[in-house]
Formats: sequence, C-alpha cells, structure tokens
Amino acid sequence: MSTLIPINSIDLQKDLDDSGLDLLLDKLFFDKGYDFRGYKKTSIRRRIKRRMHLNNISAYEKYMELLDSSPVEYQRLFDDLTIRVTGFFRDIYPFYVIRSRIIPDIINNNSHNPPLVPPLPRGDTEGLKGDEEGLNNEIRIWCPGCATGEEPYSIGMLLSDVLKDDIAKFNIKIFGTDINETALESARLGIYDSSAFKEMKEEYKNRHFFLVGSKYRIKYSVRQLVRYGIHSLVRHTPISHLDILLCRNVLIYFDRGLQEKALRDFYYALKPNGYLILGKSEVIISEFRDVFKEIDREARIYQKKG
Ligand SMILES: C[S@@+](CC[C@H](N)C(=O)[O-])C[C@H]1O[C@@H](n2cnc3c(N)ncnc32)[C@H](O)[C@@H]1O
Repeated sequence: MSTLIPINSIDLQKDLDDSGLDLLLDKLFFDKGYDFRGYKKTSIRRRIKRRMHLNNISAYEKYMELLDSSPVEYQRLFDDLTIRVTGFFRDIYPFYVIRSRIIPDIINNNSHNPPLVPPLPRGDTEGLKGDEEGLNNEIRIWCPGCATGEEPYSIGMLLSDVLKDDIAKFNIKIFGTDINETALESARLGIYDSSAFKEMKEEYKNRHFFLVGSKYRIKYSVRQLVRYGIHSLVRHTPISHLDILLCRNVLIYFDRGLQEKALRDFYYALKPNGYLILGKSEVIISEFRDVFKEIDREARIYQKKG
C-alpha cells in the first residue's frame, strides 16, 4: 500500500487548461479589444472548446495560430462568445410591471408643464452621450447588451401605447448598446422575421410593424425613439441621468468582480429613484442591497434609493 499522495492529474490538467484559456482571452483583448477576461470561465471555455472542436483542434496554442491566419474564424469566435438570444417582450412578466407601474411613475416625475421642450434634432453628432441632460420632460432609458434591438423596441412600443398623442410632449431617448456591431446593424434596420414575435400579440404586431416582403419592419414612430451604438460594460463609461436601465441576460455571463463593476456603474448612471431591471436569472448582489430597493422580485425590478 502506497503512502504517497498521487499527483492529482485532474487538477493539473485543469490548471494547464485554465492557463491556455487565459492566454487566449489575453490574445482576444490585445489583438481586437474584445475583453472577455472577467466573464464566467465555464461558459466561455465551453464556447471556445466548441469552436476548437469544429476546427479539429484540441490545443489552445494551435487554435491561436488559426485565429492569426483566419479573420473569418476570429469573427465566428466573437459571434459565439456574444450570445445574442433575445426577443420582443422576452420573459414577458416584467413588461406588465413596466407598463402599469414604472412608466406611469416616470411620466409623472418627468412631466413639467410648462415649459415643454420640443424634441431635439437628430444629427449624427448627437450621439449616445446625452449632453442635454436635465431637461425636465426628458425620459432616458438605456438597454446595454441589447443584441438585435428587440428589447429597446419593446420599451418604445410600451411608451408609445401609454403616452399615445402625448408622446410628442416628451423628449424620449432610448439607448440600445452592445459590443456586437453586426447585431446593432440589424437593430438599426429593425427588420425581423415572424419567429421574433412569439411573445407579442397579433394586434401589437399590426400596430407597430409593417410588412417588408416576408418580414416585418418596426414603424418609424417607434424606431425614431431608439438610438444604437457600440458600448462595452467592461470598458466604457456608462450613459447617465437615466430613468430606467434595463440590462437583462448580460450580467449572468460576468464573474462576480465584473458584476460588481457593472452594478456600481448602473447605480451612478441612474437618477435618484430611477429603475434597474435585470434578467430573470439575475439578482442584485449583496453589496448593493442597501442602495437599491426591491420593487418586484419576480420581475427583477429595483429602484435606486433617492
Ligand atoms: C443574451 S443577449 C441579451 C439580449 C437582451 N438583453 C435580452 O435579454 O433579450 C446578451 C447580449 O449582451 C451582449 N454583451 C456581452 N458582453 C457585453 C459587454 N461587455 N457589454 C455590452 N454588451 C455585452 C452580447 O453581445 C449580447 O448581444
């Protein structure tokens, strides 16, 4: 009987694997500025391994060589790492609460009569910065990690339905941002096929979309409420003075340190009493429970304490 403890070959293999993975993540950052270093390792590793497998490669080193010689593979890897699953009124319950409770509250807080400030012209230079902060009938909403735009448009449709003709009295800005430019291009175009409408009533679809061939395009009345741009929650400063910040199914991919950073940014980005809405599998981590009040647990809606 041996008294020696055998080297734990499984742990050793895991360490080697993790250091290969870290090297690859560093490479993505230094080559392209894609920063996945603070994402949960398990899901990132699975996605990378899948791409390696599809290319018949088992060593990270070899896969890095492939990335150097194949821009197409680089793009495919990036697309696989940015999981773009989304939909109109996805996981619908929070949208009921947004319509019946959050939007009326925001409208109430932002209605000042007179003076009403007319909507500002939409020039190219009027980007995502929000330099005209503080206008008292402005409603500012941010959807970071908006993928192909269904989420910001869902909010736009709700606002349009609640406000009806009064919408012209408000200066509404919905910012849809993501790290994936291809997704944002689709969002700007606003054309979707019928599979995108699973959670939407037919009547809603008819009111806010028109047919383009066999697909549907969102009408200008809603499209003009949303502006899209590249923004990374890891690398960029947040958009500020927000009434609502809807970030769903993004933090779930971040490790705890990055979740903390994002929540800190969200806290400062919101106006006092502004609302934060997370995805159904996401919660406010303990450090932030004192500064956000839970409004609806099931809908994952929180309010910044005033
Ligand atoms: C699963 S989708 C969520 C889409 C939408 N929010 C929803 O819940 O339906 C995740 C999105 O987050 C984006 N994303 C990933 N990392 C990001 C980051 N660091 N900053 C901003 N967006 C990010 C991805 O590109 C992807 O489009």
